[in-house]
Amino acid sequence: MKCKKCKQPAIIALRRHNAAFCREHYLEYFYGQVERAVKEYRMFARDDRILVAVSGGKDSLALWDVLLTLGYRADGLYIDLGIDGYSERSKEKVLYFARERGANLRIASIKEEYGLGIRELARKARRAACSVCGLHKRYLFNREAMEGEYDAIATGHNLDDEAATLLGNLLNWNTGYLARQSPLLEATAANLVKKVKPLYRLTEREIASYAVLRRVDYIVEECPMAVGAKSILYKNVLNQLEEVSPGTKARFLFGFLEEGRQVFAGEKEEVALKACALCGQPTTAEVCSRCRTLRRAGVTL
Ligand code: AMP
Ligand code: FES
Ligand code: ZN
Ligand code: ZN
Repeated sequence: MKCKKCKQPAIIALRRHNAAFCREHYLEYFYGQVERAVKEYRMFARDDRILVAVSGGKDSLALWDVLLTLGYRADGLYIDLGIDGYSERSKEKVLYFARERGANLRIASIKEEYGLGIRELARKARRAACSVCGLHKRYLFNREAMEGEYDAIATGHNLDDEAATLLGNLLNWNTGYLARQSPLLEATAANLVKKVKPLYRLTEREIASYAVLRRVDYIVEECPMAVGAKSILYKNVLNQLEEVSPGTKARFLFGFLEEGRQVFAGEKEEVALKACALCGQPTTAEVCSRCRTLRRAGVTL
């Protein structure tokens, strides 16, 4: 197996591109895909300040590494969800990365703010842990980015994540979500910061290879509360298709972004956003769902 570019021995084969690359040309390919994503969606400019949401997993740490390597002004944000064991171990990876690269890291802790971890908050509010977790992450990403005056929040969502979300949205005909699914979510209200997914063109396997090549030390275990999640099933199904027909995932997602998404444009409800009476973040109701769930869990706001 030889590198497509220089004919030296290759270290990785990418069946979907019918190509193999040596270390140097693989990294070049990888950075090229990120730059293309950033440019195509005008995610951010050279001198913008970016807040990278880092979980300690391979995707978000690889993203932080890429952005720093490409010379972007990227700080990290870690949210300590207070999940026994898992949170400590993932935080350790993030702290190590920041220390090693001399990068700025912000940390927000759910337990410090509310006295309870995500699991307990969800149980007391009688809600699914993952959905409560999602509400708090969204809130904290935005609050921290506003406070630090960042131009964009970047998450590590990859091609597999986005294709699995797309499949789920199609299987359930979530037309409103289909209208909105994109690697770029513009700030639609004054107190919102735009969200971007610069890794959406790269697969999980490609990102894991990048992390290994760049010696990014990440947490391999998944969040214990994600066990049995539908998204894992969708990813497995898509990987089976990819195995038989390389490039399926990319065609599925990119085709949707280029042609399919506009079909659902009419489903985008123009909702009037107002400030939540308790936290001030944009919501369609009087009180946002994060604050309502906190109240249900008995937390005084
Ligand atoms: P997930 O929903 O767990 O697949 O995570 C999607 C993205 O959200 C990751 O790639 C990160 O960018 C971000 N993220 C997830 N968990 C955290 C966390 N605890 N702190 C900061 N960012 C996170
Ligand atoms: Fe949110 Fe596991 S990361 S519930
Ligand atoms: Zn080469
Ligand atoms: Zn609120």
